[in-house]
Amino acid sequence: MTIWPPNPSDLRRPVYRSLAETLIRAVNAGELRDGDRLPTHRNLAYDLGLSVQTVSRAYDELIRRGVIAGEVGRGTFVKSGRSDAQTPFLSEGRYGELIDFSMLKPVFVPMHLETMRRALTKLGTDLPASAISSFRTSGALRNYTKPALKWLKLCGLDQPSQGLLLTNGNTAAMTVALMTVANPGDLVVTEELGHHTLRPLSRYLGLRIQGLEIDAHGVVPAAFAKACEKSTVKAIYLMPTGLNPCALTMPLERRKELVAVARRHDVLIIENDAWGPLQPNRPEPIAAMAPERTFYFTSLTKCIMPGLRFGFLTMPETYQSAAANRQLVTNWMVTPLMAELASRWITDGTAEYLLKWQMEALGERNKRGAAILGNVPFNSSPNGMHFWLPMPGGWTEDGFVAHARLNSVALAPGASFKLSDSVHKPGVRICLGAETTEALERGLTVISRLARSNPEPPLLTL
Ligand SMILES: Cc1ncc(COP(=O)(O)O)c(C=O)c1O
Repeated sequence: MTIWPPNPSDLRRPVYRSLAETLIRAVNAGELRDGDRLPTHRNLAYDLGLSVQTVSRAYDELIRRGVIAGEVGRGTFVKSGRSDAQTPFLSEGRYGELIDFSMLKPVFVPMHLETMRRALTKLGTDLPASAISSFRTSGALRNYTKPALKWLKLCGLDQPSQGLLLTNGNTAAMTVALMTVANPGDLVVTEELGHHTLRPLSRYLGLRIQGLEIDAHGVVPAAFAKACEKSTVKAIYLMPTGLNPCALTMPLERRKELVAVARRHDVLIIENDAWGPLQPNRPEPIAAMAPERTFYFTSLTKCIMPGLRFGFLTMPETYQSAAANRQLVTNWMVTPLMAELASRWITDGTAEYLLKWQMEALGERNKRGAAILGNVPFNSSPNGMHFWLPMPGGWTEDGFVAHARLNSVALAPGASFKLSDSVHKPGVRICLGAETTEALERGLTVISRLARSNPEPPLLTL
């Protein structure tokens, strides 16, 4: 039985809401897909025996929820995939014996749990009242600035005069940065294959997003300049150090070129450096080259362990109070207990020890992975958390991902990272940190075999 269009006798009161919910169910069930055109208000009203006002109200509700969109002169379309976060990774725990390469995670072994348990036991005996007694950020967080600056120095930033906010990881920093640099309606440009939460976040904030052409070194400066010449660009969002799904690390020269364009057109820069410190000998952060216009963030979640949600957002000092206000209304402040724990680890060297451990573990996995893939072409960055596998001859992303799944391996399709409708760089992201070494080797062996084989006929879906 199909869900859409509904049988009028199944609609409950209020009918407009029931109609809207039926459409959402049809989208969730895959019966309606991104881009499907919906009937006009008048036609649907006629078919269902409803008033045009009822159908219009249902459509208005769906537009408000971001499930459909009206395009002037063209009609009304389903836009579920474009509006909500399309996660490249699988949700947890429903897939049995799967080797899951879909999520970007650092390596986590029993030593991490032990280290955390020891720290928590100690915290249980000497927790300072200041960590849990204040709503005032200055009072609660004063002690954490010094450790934060120490960590930022390790990331290549040595600017204590810059504005600084402590955050609950990268995502919180990214939200505050975007809210600070742009207002609803403003244009933000970024890598055409980039950060998967940027599109939905921009939509929630009312920002326009445009993906720019990338090459092996990152965003092409001429594409950036052209976008700036055509429209007012408020900010450019970049992941210059390994983090991009294509595993690019932007060389110094390219960073300089992009900074020059940003200066020429007075564009702010947001630099996501979530795992920058893991990369040895990397070029200096863009924030160090253009501190007057760069919002930079990094966090311990990727470099140390996922549950250590403690991050850092730096910005030009003149934006500090605007950013602090946005942090206040979205998060109030970093969770002080987490800040206390992480700051202790930064101060006593545990964080740096775990960072080095992570570098070695990922470096080792990169080497093993490269050996298993052999002459199959792929991109990676030193100590990076993932490989990017451009689609080998004849394979489509969907076909490759589906065949890997048949062999119990989960991958992230490149389509999840698309931020431009015109980009055509088919590939899959293979994350190296999440599984045991043994599962990593087994999974990569499957991938290597698939990449060398000819695509099979399309899978039948029942
Ligand atoms: C590129 C990128 N940046 C940031 C994050 C999220 O970082 P956090 O967990 O610190 O919020 C992710 C999560 O996968 C990511 O892929």
